[in-house]
Amino acid sequence: MRLDKYLAQMSKGTRSEVKKFIKSGRVFVNGIPAVKPEQKVTEEDNVELDGERVFYEEYVYYMLNKPQGVVSATKDNTCSTVLSLIRDSSKKNIFPVGRLDKDTEGLLIITNDGALSHDLLAPGKHVWKTYFVRVRGILEDEDISCLKNGLDIGDEKPTRPAKVRLLKPEELSLLLDDPGYPEDGQCCLELSICEGRFHQVKRMLAAVGHPVLYLKRLSMGSLQLDKSLAPGEYRRLTGEEIDALRGDGDLYEKKSVYEKMDI
Ligand code: URA
Repeated sequence: MRLDKYLAQMSKGTRSEVKKFIKSGRVFVNGIPAVKPEQKVTEEDNVELDGERVFYEEYVYYMLNKPQGVVSATKDNTCSTVLSLIRDSSKKNIFPVGRLDKDTEGLLIITNDGALSHDLLAPGKHVWKTYFVRVRGILEDEDISCLKNGLDIGDEKPTRPAKVRLLKPEELSLLLDDPGYPEDGQCCLELSICEGRFHQVKRMLAAVGHPVLYLKRLSMGSLQLDKSLAPGEYRRLTGEEIDALRGDGDLYEKKSVYEKMDI
């Protein structure tokens, strides 16, 4: 790849900016000052800008706290997409890993790593996803059993068993001023599912007579939504988070977040 393209792809500046860096002697390749933007380099070469090594990164991984009102797609004719929120990506081929509905908030992974995405979404992998859900009405024990055992939501097969936990008032008091906070005649739960059917959470709750009023994804496999991210904010995943996600894709069934937390 050309040196100017390499530097621009690693977000060191626009193509014309990095050309100027090269011409002004700020860029070295394998210890030798670079003079030509068209010089060919590979990821094996030691490229330095202002004395700092610029490593080549093929894949990028972001955690987005998806806000309501944007669609989980790479393109849409009428609505903003989640990609429009990722402003500094050096990669043009990024995409969301799976979908959240337009009115759903929460954890969405954005990457250009197709293999990881495939592993996390493949139906046979059963990666757990945990949601915070606020519903109309108060869930009875019988409703919770139905969700836990798996239920008919109008598909060929019933849903796989889910994990359900009704949230206690003291946990909800942390949500004051948050769209998750329940009003009278509503309740909140944490629901973990290991499938990814269309509108699955909404359809499961509707099947037990409790329409979803607010939905937010809290985790996917081992990756938990960073609480410091406001809706619309994002950050890069750490190396540890990426490694852990790769492990999630390899395993057949993972424990849900609150099983791991031993609640
Ligand atoms: N289930 C739903 O119903 N909607 C989502 O956005 C995610 C899971």
